[in-house]
Amino acid sequence: MGVGQDCRNHNLALLNHTKHRKKQLLWPIRWTLVCGVLLFVVGLVSLCIGHVVSDQEWYSHRFIKRSWYYKMDRAHAPVDIWKSEFSKFYYGCSERGPRFTPAVRERSSNGYLLIAASGGLNQQRTGITDAVVVSWILNATLVVPELDHNSFWKDDSDFVDIFDVDWFISSLSKDVTVVKRVPDKVMRSMLKPPYTMRVPRKSEPNYYLDEVLPILLRRRVVQLTKFDYRLANDLDEELQRLRCRVNYHALRFTIPVSDIGQLIILRMRKMARRFISVHLRFEPDMLAFSGCYFGGGDKERYELGEIRKRWTNLPETTPDKERKRGKCPLTPHEVGLLLRALGYNNNSLVYVASGEIYGGEETLRPLRELFPNFYTKEMLAGVELQPFVSFSSRLAAIDYIVCEDSDVFVTNNNGNMAKILAGRRRYMGHKRTIRPNAKRLSAIFMARDQMGWDTFAEKVKSCQRGFMGEPEEMRPGRGEFHEYPASCICKKPLKYSGNGSLGTVPIVDARAEYRKIHNTSTMLRLNNSEMQNVPAPSTGTDDVDELWGD
Ligand SMILES: *[C@@H]1O[C@H](CO)[C@@H](O)[C@H](O)[C@H]1NC(C)=O
Ligand SMILES: *[C@@H]1O[C@H](CO)[C@@H](O)[C@H](O)[C@H]1NC(C)=O
Ligand SMILES: *[C@@H]1O[C@H](CO)[C@@H](O)[C@H](O)[C@H]1NC(C)=O
Ligand SMILES: *[C@@H]1O[C@H](CO)[C@@H](O)[C@H](O)[C@H]1NC(C)=O
Ligand SMILES: *[C@@H]1O[C@H](CO)[C@@H](O)[C@H](O)[C@H]1NC(C)=O
Repeated sequence: MGVGQDCRNHNLALLNHTKHRKKQLLWPIRWTLVCGVLLFVVGLVSLCIGHVVSDQEWYSHRFIKRSWYYKMDRAHAPVDIWKSEFSKFYYGCSERGPRFTPAVRERSSNGYLLIAASGGLNQQRTGITDAVVVSWILNATLVVPELDHNSFWKDDSDFVDIFDVDWFISSLSKDVTVVKRVPDKVMRSMLKPPYTMRVPRKSEPNYYLDEVLPILLRRRVVQLTKFDYRLANDLDEELQRLRCRVNYHALRFTIPVSDIGQLIILRMRKMARRFISVHLRFEPDMLAFSGCYFGGGDKERYELGEIRKRWTNLPETTPDKERKRGKCPLTPHEVGLLLRALGYNNNSLVYVASGEIYGGEETLRPLRELFPNFYTKEMLAGVELQPFVSFSSRLAAIDYIVCEDSDVFVTNNNGNMAKILAGRRRYMGHKRTIRPNAKRLSAIFMARDQMGWDTFAEKVKSCQRGFMGEPEEMRPGRGEFHEYPASCICKKPLKYSGNGSLGTVPIVDARAEYRKIHNTSTMLRLNNSEMQNVPAPSTGTDDVDELWGD
């Protein structure tokens, strides 16, 4: 993969290069040089074709096999930084197959499954998603999962405080029976308290059938603890699509939470037609854990070093090495530089989703200077946010809603929220989602003083190819399913392409879908003056200076 990527990038640089050369050489034409360069290009092209052809087994039947010239054509086409040009050819699909066994009713199920989902909001989301799949595998009745109250995030919220529990139960009714609690009658008939166990990470379905099912049948109620990534990444397509039904449809936030999210979106869209959301993980704990250095001198080394002592068995790390390996979260300044290099200008509206930022305002200032139109949920809805401030998961949910809706989403990290949102944005129509190619960016950032802005920007653009949230970046087998939900992305039949009316092909329009779900209350309760002059969602016609490519 790495080789192919490099090859393509190199090739691209060369193509750009020859183009410039051609302009200079138009008069007098030095044919020998042109021919030489062209021959060299042809050689490289054929090298790359070799790679692409050998790569084709990556694309399953769900993806059309793209021909190499399509790829080559893409390589030097300008990229619209606000919208993926190819998103219109794909849509999120997670329908049940005709042979998918429907939900087993409570009375005939093999027993009750209690789940304790662990971690912060998005880790819990993966746990809840997989809990439904495990319940299906076991023909068990799922009891609405419990959320972790003791994680780093220290939040006492229960499932019902964050997610719409009735919707969760009803929208899954065809797949898995979900109940709010184990009936008293069953509890009373039990001789012992529920059996509690923890399954290994990423267990195969067979593990559950072999190890959990017998206990479930014997005891009627089994509790699985620390439940997050406890089910294998690669599952049968039908089960992957069940994951999508849970994650993208059944799990929706409660009305109070989604109201605030919608309010913030409304206030953002009143200021500009489109906006970028930036998800920053820059809490002291995370930075200390990463073992990286972020440029804060001895003070930073001391403070993060002290925090790092909390974990007793962390490996010794060299900050420089971690950075070269792409393991360090980008600083807010670096995120700003990345965005500016990609072509977003200083007028762009930016929403920053974050918890505590190490160094506070001081750390954020360089980003603010690059993007003066900078907003946070506190700035946009300080008063309305008051009831939520002591609940970190609900605050995270609000950020999730705004980040999901934004035209462009970028993160400085590779955490759970970054991955889950990247996957969701693919499913909901491939909205522009920028994942920093940290490994290659780190070298460019380190050498920034040694080059001019234009060179820097060119290098950044070239190294971000393949990390911009384009549909074609996705290949079955790449990365985690939550980030690349390949089984749930379908391609529209080609004959329909480019035409707004798509016959019988279902299209998931993220925003319409979201509005349909969240509309009921929000819009009615917001006051009239706020409802006026809300611009329509962007359609993505862009000024030339906002394009990048060549
Ligand atoms: C679940 O129910 C289906 C249909 O009744 C059956 O085919 C399957 O074997 C059951 N699986 C388990 C683990 O009980
Ligand atoms: C953006 O930059 C231009 C020129 O560099 C400057 O005139 C303008 O005021 C800046 N815009 C904002 C919102 O700061
Ligand atoms: C799109 O399809 C509709 C209905 O089939 C047709 O009337 C229209 O002309 C098509 N538009 C284009 C641009 O092909
Ligand atoms: C939103 O709610 C209003 C009022 O109930 C309704 O008239 C409108 O059609 C809804 N919009 C969508 C997109 O569902
Ligand atoms: C409606 O919202 C506007 C702008 O936020 C505010 O100025 C106004 O006082 C609000 N009106 C009511 C009736 O709440």
